Amino acid sequence: MEVSWLAPRSQGYERCQAAVAASLKALQTDYIDLYLIHWPGASGLEPDDPRHAQLRADSWRALEQLLAEGTLRAIGVSNYGVPHLQQLLDTCQTAPHVNQVEVHPYFQQKELREFCERHKIHVQAYSSLGTTVEVSPLLVDPVVQQVAREVGRTPAQVLLKWALQHSLSVIPKSTNPQHMRENMELDFSLNDQQMALLDGLERNTKFAWDSRVVA
Ligand SMILES: NC(=O)c1ccc[n+]([C@@H]2O[C@H](COP(=O)([O-])OP(=O)(O)OC[C@H]3O[C@@H](n4cnc5c(N)ncnc54)[C@H](OP(=O)(O)O)[C@@H]3O)[C@@H](O)[C@H]2O)c1
Repeated sequence: MEVSWLAPRSQGYERCQAAVAASLKALQTDYIDLYLIHWPGASGLEPDDPRHAQLRADSWRALEQLLAEGTLRAIGVSNYGVPHLQQLLDTCQTAPHVNQVEVHPYFQQKELREFCERHKIHVQAYSSLGTTVEVSPLLVDPVVQQVAREVGRTPAQVLLKWALQHSLSVIPKSTNPQHMRENMELDFSLNDQQMALLDGLERNTKFAWDSRVVA
């Protein structure tokens, strides 16, 4: 499956078209399964610059056209908050198929998830394991570890299962073959009490960049 992203420097109608063409060439393919606008902002502008909204709307128009032509099989966004999505829904022909955002028990984005559910936008979680750091606070969290002991799985598996049981898809990153296997072996379930314990870990703490500042 081929997935690619529009970089902030390529926001805008023509630049977006050129970026997709460059991705097709680099991937040596004539279609891409899923193409996402990586960030609601454009490079070189202050976060509160009103031109971000126009540029990302222009990029979206280009993606809609490429979708209609069959060059892109699905189109989406990433790091869009409710205001960014609402603006897009007000003007688009096709709603985003996917919004890829940071979601894990410390940063659950409930309002955004509910908004996406209402508008049938699939939420894909990133940084499910707390991103690449020496010791991820999520992986050593006592509640996550307690649940992991209860189900006989690893903390990473518990975090991924928590996301899946909230109807999110996950894209854990690993350079370790054992971890990669583990991250696919998710044939178990968390009970209501275990889900509630993990839901109780919300602390509005994110690990990656914060797009809420982008106008
Ligand atoms: N759209 C965006 O703006 C955005 C932003 C951030 C990330 N992402 C995407 O999201 C994906 C994942 O998020 P992320 O990069 O933040 O990292 P992540 O998946 O939250 O965490 C990766 C870290 O977890 C470790 N790990 C993986 N599986 C493990 C396991 N089973 N047990 C213990 N440790 C494990 C990895 O180490 P090992 O290598 O040793 O396994 C690595 O240090 C990436 O592919 C990235 O492209 C997107």
